[in-house]
Amino acid sequence: MDRGLWLSNKDDKDKLDIRELIKTKGLPGAIKHYVGNSQIWRSFFRHSLEDTPKTRMQTVISNVFLHLHPAKVKRHAPLFKFTWCMGGITFFTFLVLTITGVSLMFYYHPNVRDAYWDMKGLENHVPFGLLLRNLHRWGAHLMVITVWFHMFRVFMTGSYKPPREFNWVIGVVLLVFTLLLSFTGYLLPWDQLGFWAVTVGTNMARSTPGLGHEGPFGELLGMTAYNDIRFALLGGSMVGGNALLRAYIWHCIGLPLIVSIFLIVHFWRIRKDGGISGKL
Ligand code: HEM
Repeated sequence: MDRGLWLSNKDDKDKLDIRELIKTKGLPGAIKHYVGNSQIWRSFFRHSLEDTPKTRMQTVISNVFLHLHPAKVKRHAPLFKFTWCMGGITFFTFLVLTITGVSLMFYYHPNVRDAYWDMKGLENHVPFGLLLRNLHRWGAHLMVITVWFHMFRVFMTGSYKPPREFNWVIGVVLLVFTLLLSFTGYLLPWDQLGFWAVTVGTNMARSTPGLGHEGPFGELLGMTAYNDIRFALLGGSMVGGNALLRAYIWHCIGLPLIVSIFLIVHFWRIRKDGGISGKL
């Protein structure tokens, strides 16, 4: 848009002489001018579209999607060799897992009778079902791997140091919840692998300090096999239908919601801490 024709709100735009405009700008120029200064156009595009550093910045900050990105980044920040893009790839896999996970929910019943056969049916009878399942399963493996690499990168570039120490702690919480998402998802196919992995994993919860009936101070605090943390996780004293339902609800609702909230805080903190950390 021609910046010279961008009128301020105070200008009396309607009273511009159309004949004079056509004379000076020609018909296309006059139409461009009128459209560009119309109320409808300006309610969408609130600034000039001229390519200057200022209007580029205005474009980013006045758009609901673009404003999620900073208007300015440090030169080294988008370099692959600095971040390895591991945080970005972890976030991307989280989005892929959310979309494929919701799609999987259409074919799955969280009960002992149906769960395993739902997965087999999905693989063998649903078009692209095997692909959908594998995208979710391999995506989950990838997210666990990339989140560790991201943490390693942050450590190696010293990005955990002040003022980013708070975001490091948010990151640790994200790591734990990523692992919990992976763990709860493991049980859902109700196959031998998942069943025994969760049996072993939840048996470890018996030894939780204070909260497990075999852990330090557990007995002192009145913990038994029927009221401790393992009992709460499984909805009983062994891996069965209740455990499957609990894993399903945590996996599909509780944990993704918690991760989303912490991700918002994580990204917000990056901006508040001055963007990606500087070079070492
Ligand atoms: C679900 C898991 C996570 C996601 C999606 C995520 C995402 C991101 C993204 C996109 C960035 C921008 C820079 C980059 O891509 O490297 C970032 C930066 C950061 N992350 Fe994470 N992150 C996660 C987990 C973690 C963990 C486990 C830690 C550490 C314990 C951590 C600590 C940090 C810190 C300190 C920064 C700022 C780095 C800097 O300024 O150079 N994050 N994160």
